[in-house]
Amino acid sequence: MEISSELICKYNVPVPRYTSYPPANHFSGSFSREDHVRLLKESNQGSPRNIALYIHIPFCKKICFYCGCNACPIGTGRLVKPYIEAVKKEISIVAAYIDKNRPVSQVHYGGGTPNAVPLSLITELNEFLFNTFRFIEKPEIAIECNPSLLDHAAVDLLKGARFNRFSLGIQDFDRDILRTVNREPSALPEAELLAHLKEGEEGITVNLDFMYGLPGQTVAGFARTMEQAILLRPDRLVTFSYAHVPWLKKHQQILEKKGLPATDQKMAMFLEGHRLLCQAGYQPIGLDHYVLPEDELSEALKNRMLHRNFQGYCTRRTTGQVYAFGASAISQLEKGFSQNMIDPEDYITKISQGIIPLEKGYVLSREEILIGRVISEIMCNMHIDWLELSEQLGVSAEELKSLLILNERVLEEFAQDGLLEYSPSFLRVTPEGSLFVRNIAASLDPAYQSHTHQYSKSV
Ligand SMILES: C[S@@+](CC[C@H](N)C(=O)[O-])C[C@H]1O[C@@H](n2cnc3c(N)ncnc32)[C@H](O)[C@@H]1O
Ligand code: SF4
Repeated sequence: MEISSELICKYNVPVPRYTSYPPANHFSGSFSREDHVRLLKESNQGSPRNIALYIHIPFCKKICFYCGCNACPIGTGRLVKPYIEAVKKEISIVAAYIDKNRPVSQVHYGGGTPNAVPLSLITELNEFLFNTFRFIEKPEIAIECNPSLLDHAAVDLLKGARFNRFSLGIQDFDRDILRTVNREPSALPEAELLAHLKEGEEGITVNLDFMYGLPGQTVAGFARTMEQAILLRPDRLVTFSYAHVPWLKKHQQILEKKGLPATDQKMAMFLEGHRLLCQAGYQPIGLDHYVLPEDELSEALKNRMLHRNFQGYCTRRTTGQVYAFGASAISQLEKGFSQNMIDPEDYITKISQGIIPLEKGYVLSREEILIGRVISEIMCNMHIDWLELSEQLGVSAEELKSLLILNERVLEEFAQDGLLEYSPSFLRVTPEGSLFVRNIAASLDPAYQSHTHQYSKSV
């Protein structure tokens, strides 16, 4: 795939990642406890009926200079135990509002670094979930791990705790790059680690995270990293574009001093990775994810049944409304969002007082729910059939279209640039257009124009 530097310049503007609609910067502090409880109660009648659980573990041994996540240093570890106890208490408070017949299809531990805390506490927390909720037959139990903290014993403990999906932050195999961003390499040789994760059990999937656009990275170096990744044959792989938001994450300023790659270099790294991964048989999913062709996400994309939440892509089988626990965690319910306090100490204090530790949230109007579904369709499946989607949503195609900005001039410009095909009955993003799908989604979004300055650039 060839993408001209003119196109890259033209579309390299701040746009949301649309992990939610509306994006999290629209959430409001005036969201109340009553709003939260109403959303929880109404979620029992909502769709999908399944439950997805997200547990945020904010602690890390040290902070990587690029990090955009809600993470904090673990220090002496004094907060860890009280934090896990607070998470259990929050789960009990929220579970009281959830219909006991609804099954859990997905659990995701993210962070921060869930494997930075004693794994006995993670095992205990997982058992607590199994005792609190009903589960579908083969739920997905996922954990994000920093491989610098994974030895053979840790892998055994996590598998014993019933985890079956492991997401490992590799970022780059080049140790100089890792040193520049304040990060340790994998404790075990990666091939040995993957083999042990997969050993002896059916249905374990391994995902590897990479990043491009970090100081010192070059197109040739990133290509070497991708070649090494392909040899490991992970089930899934993500190449994240480094999101530079120093106004939100002050530690990222350090990377400006070390010299960030130019935009055209960054795009060239992505394209070279994309080429190598496709050539090796990986199927691109959404913005930056790749899966083996036999993966259920590949099948879901073919049938235009791919879904997505804050935790990543999912299929109809595992998709659920997301109930999230822990500091900064965002619940993603049918009629709105609620986010917990970001500071772990504030979170622990509020929970110990029996108070739901809300930071902010958002109650969706009927129109916003419909717009969100359109945005999700284009971001996940790269295709909108207006009649089919409107029937699924129970509205007329005319009403659905009237809620969006369908500016003929803008659509025609995307089409002229080879990014989009469209007619009155459909929109289809081309393979080239998938690189700019955030721009296409933003052009449809009536709420986008007023918030442009708050997002990272699309490349
Ligand atoms: C919570 S971390 C993964 C788990 C673990 N803490 C680790 O670092 O290995 C999730 C992933 O987000 C990605 N990430 C973090 N900061 C980012 C940023 N500023 N831009 C793009 N991706 C980022 C990294 O690839 C990272 O592996
Ligand atoms: S990338 Fe992972 S290990 Fe590094 S600071 Fe962020 S959450 Fe922690």
